[in-house]
Amino acid sequence: MQVGQEKIVVLGTGGTIAGLATSAADSRDYLAAQKPVAELMTGLAAPSGFALLSEQVAQIDSKDMDLAVWRKLLQRCVHWLAQADVQGLVITHGTDTLEETAFLLQTVLAPRKPVVLTCAMRPANAADADGPQNLRDALAVAATAGAQGVLAVCAGRILGALDVQKVHSSRLDAFSAGEAGDIGRVQQGRVERQRDWPQPRVPQEMLLEVLLTAPALPRVEIVLSHAAACGATVDALVDPAVATRYGAPPVRGLVLAGTGGGTVHHELEAALRRAQAAGVRVLRSTRCADGFLQPRPNEEFPVAAGLSPVKARLALMLELLR
Ligand code: SIN
Repeated sequence: MQVGQEKIVVLGTGGTIAGLATSAADSRDYLAAQKPVAELMTGLAAPSGFALLSEQVAQIDSKDMDLAVWRKLLQRCVHWLAQADVQGLVITHGTDTLEETAFLLQTVLAPRKPVVLTCAMRPANAADADGPQNLRDALAVAATAGAQGVLAVCAGRILGALDVQKVHSSRLDAFSAGEAGDIGRVQQGRVERQRDWPQPRVPQEMLLEVLLTAPALPRVEIVLSHAAACGATVDALVDPAVATRYGAPPVRGLVLAGTGGGTVHHELEAALRRAQAAGVRVLRSTRCADGFLQPRPNEEFPVAAGLSPVKARLALMLELLR
């Protein structure tokens, strides 16, 4: 690396992109988060003019993502983004909760530099592994002049942090940005943009400080509305005696994953009303993968506009932390 050369820093957190299968010929049987990020980068060419650095922040299957890993990731992002010679970051991550990490980073950091999450649907030693190409594409995006904000890059597509959602359990092209649409694509190392990069907002410095020091995240649960639903589930969730029995913190918020336009089975609705009257915050979203809920005047349960249930849950947790 030459002195003063611009850098792209790759932060490893685990996932299938770092997974290893028992046999390269059958990638269904594998363990996520095995291969160090430095090894994932072996033989990978740096985008022209840039040096590559890597750092192992965590090594987990992203289904197990928790506050401790998010804190470490936030700290390392803040550290590297503040370096004048760092052009951007790439984060290798599991696909399963990538959208939650992307949402958190964009909401809290709203960076003026690109922070590109990438992943894979097949383990690193699969004969047809998709991780190396995704990583190359993510590096190309991170190296793009003017790129900014938190992005996800998978299967040649560039998706915004607020829109990205895993929509397929096995396809290589597993993500969608819904009706918002993709930000662009990467083809043979060339980045083609169709929409604006995510806009930098005022970084939430106070929120970051609270997140880095709070003993825990406020407890917010997701309640799915469905046919033949029963309100007792909600009553049990918000009963402080139940929380105490299981050594859990009390529920501070509930996100309704409602049917269609955010509607809710009448039994659940009555229970959500009881929860709200007891001081629990209730937000409404939809269990539909696509489409936005629009806020309406005088709504009993406010809408988490444009957010999926998992992102609405994070938004509410952050609001309660504030
Ligand atoms: C994970 O999310 O860590 C495992 C699954 C994946 O990366 O596809």
